[in-house]
Amino acid sequence: MSLRIAVIAGDGIGPEVIREASRALTTVAAASGRSLSLTEFPWSADHYLKTGETLPKGALAMLQERFDAILLGAMGDPRVPDNRHAADVLLGLRFQLDLYVNYRPVKLFHERLCPLKAVTPPDVDFVVFRENTEGLYVMMGGNFKKDTPDEVATDVDLNTRKGVERIIRHAFEFAVRTGRGRVTMSDKSNVLIHAHDLWQRTFRAVAAEFPKIEARHLYVDNLTLQIVRDPRQFQVIVTSNMFGDIVTDLAAGLQGGLGMAASGNIHPGKLSLFEPVHGSSPPLAGKDVANPMGAILTAGLLLEHVGWAEEARRVEEAVAWAIRNDALTPDVGGRLGTRETGEAIAARLR
Ligand code: IPM
Ligand code: MN
Repeated sequence: MSLRIAVIAGDGIGPEVIREASRALTTVAAASGRSLSLTEFPWSADHYLKTGETLPKGALAMLQERFDAILLGAMGDPRVPDNRHAADVLLGLRFQLDLYVNYRPVKLFHERLCPLKAVTPPDVDFVVFRENTEGLYVMMGGNFKKDTPDEVATDVDLNTRKGVERIIRHAFEFAVRTGRGRVTMSDKSNVLIHAHDLWQRTFRAVAAEFPKIEARHLYVDNLTLQIVRDPRQFQVIVTSNMFGDIVTDLAAGLQGGLGMAASGNIHPGKLSLFEPVHGSSPPLAGKDVANPMGAILTAGLLLEHVGWAEEARRVEEAVAWAIRNDALTPDVGGRLGTRETGEAIAARLR
């Protein structure tokens, strides 16, 4: 049966990197004689400014009915000051599709991409599982006496036993499935003595079910230091929504920058959404300089999720090949454009 992918290119460099990710998908499918369809949706800042529409009514049911996966470029545009469209589309899909696993592999493909001294590819190979449906992202809170000298403002860090438990359990199950021996949970339970104590208690309870996996805890400030000091310590990291957001930008730095980092917003067994970690980067848009590798690797994660394991492996291998052969954009020390880099990767996939 044909694999049906909904494509939301989004804003800024989104359309340019998604063009190359789409090229990789259609090429790898053709090379293995499998069928795949890409259907584009215009949801973006342009579309919002033109029509007032962010994520249209009925979009959710339509996507669930007609597609096997969603590929998204990037969302964010300075013309939409509060980025309402991005909140509605990206966060809306994360929450409404209940995509509780934010899967962010951190993998160094070539020594010269890493800013740390004497760090080689086997030293940077871990996965961050970021909780993706609650925490500080729920947008609960408010202002009191707004725009006066007495203003009060709050945002609530909302954590549920169910939400914390399912992401921690997912991290342990992934460790077992992929033969990784250690799971590190990171929180700030020394200060957030209620919400993050829930993480502590839940982590201990779930870890007890996996006696063969080493369970380690680091406060998040120490985690950021340790990732830079010695990334070899990490195999699987599980953390909250906001900390995961911050830690994965830091970790992207070890891989060659944001242009290299891939991610999946996943509900196991259900319709899931795949987007590179980088944003829309408005200053780079339309210049053919954005690095398409993060988006192409993201397309690889999509294939892995829908069970196209061999095609997923081939996409990753083609990116590794391009890096070895200097088919690189300027952000990672190369001279090629977005399109030429994507074409080099597609040529390898053919
Ligand atoms: C990410 C992004 C998003 C987030 C923004 C665009 C809302 O930074 O996917 O990491 O904070 O989750
Ligand atoms: Mn982020």
